[in-house]
Amino acid sequence: MDYKIAVIKGDGIGPEIVDQALKALDRIGEKFGHKFNYEYLLAGGAALDKHGEPLPKKTVKACKESDAVLLGAVGDPKWDKEPGSNRPEAAILGLREQLGLFANLRPAMIFSELADASPLKAEILGGALDICIVRELTGGIYFGPRGTDTIKNGKLADLALRNFPKFAKSQNIEPEGRIAYDVEIYHEYEIRRIARLAFEMAMKRGKHVTSVDKANVLDSSRLWRQVVTEVHEDYPDVSLDHLYVDNTTQQLIKNPGQFDVLVTSNMFGDIISDEASQITGSIGMLPSASLGEGSFGLYEPIHGSAPKYTGLDRANPIATILSAAMLLRYSLDLGAEADAIEKAVNDFLIRGYRTPDILTEGKTPVGTQETGDLIHSFI
Ligand code: IPM
Ligand code: MG
Repeated sequence: MDYKIAVIKGDGIGPEIVDQALKALDRIGEKFGHKFNYEYLLAGGAALDKHGEPLPKKTVKACKESDAVLLGAVGDPKWDKEPGSNRPEAAILGLREQLGLFANLRPAMIFSELADASPLKAEILGGALDICIVRELTGGIYFGPRGTDTIKNGKLADLALRNFPKFAKSQNIEPEGRIAYDVEIYHEYEIRRIARLAFEMAMKRGKHVTSVDKANVLDSSRLWRQVVTEVHEDYPDVSLDHLYVDNTTQQLIKNPGQFDVLVTSNMFGDIISDEASQITGSIGMLPSASLGEGSFGLYEPIHGSAPKYTGLDRANPIATILSAAMLLRYSLDLGAEADAIEKAVNDFLIRGYRTPDILTEGKTPVGTQETGDLIHSFI
């Protein structure tokens, strides 16, 4: 079969890690008789440099016309002073929103070969760790109303925040000064569809969902909890727990083995997925998938563009290679092909090859390119 894949290499180490994933995909194509047609697109800092905007329309259009998107990473401190809408990160948020990618799957697993890489003691880890974080990706505080305003003589310069004067009065807020606001809003359909996806995921795994919220304080979390509980009625084989987000951050360190699927809002998911990735000891190994209603998806490593390692041939491309495997599995329905990539990554580890981020004594250090070549040769 012929497939069309939109490729966004991005900034920093993005291009060099994506190149290794393409090597793996090409080898899969050869071995299983598929043709992957790549369309190279700009987003993030690279697009800002070339077109003056982080997410050109052409990129969004071409992504929509493809079967899936493979992305490296975007961002560089060079653009830190840009306003929010013109930062490389705006490209990621824009892609998620415009492509309707409301679900973000972030598996955090420990590769048995790398068990000693986790910062947690072996007895806490209790052997394997295999958590799947399902993060809501196009709602909540990331996409709610936001703004900045100035209060002069007790009045707002901009009337955007209609409720604020009343709130300010009740809270005795100073009548002068700058304010900024970001609002968390969840509609029940947004909660329902992400909850459904999490329960479906759990059915294929350990049949256990933990929903993470802050229902002791936030109305949006109370609705979240109610809707997740309602959706649960359709999944009697799955057990459901509710956990406050602050407690979750503790439990992840105290007893990570208790989790199977974690489902949570955009903001909480951003935070706990970083924490979970550190428990595995190797953020350079973890892929992610962003999905919408159909099979279309965007796949990227969960780490960033690591500008200081650009061009040094030391970045670990495995998270991106494993993202390509997720792309095969979820968007192209090519399970055996995805397995072949994952097995090749395992072979690479079993044979003792290590990129600098996962290097331990007695193992063979290899760079970015060589890692790609070796994994290619094991497929
Ligand atoms: C992530 C990142 C993004 C996010 C940034 C780059 C906008 O941290 O994918 O987790 O906050 O979602
Ligand atoms: Mg993040």
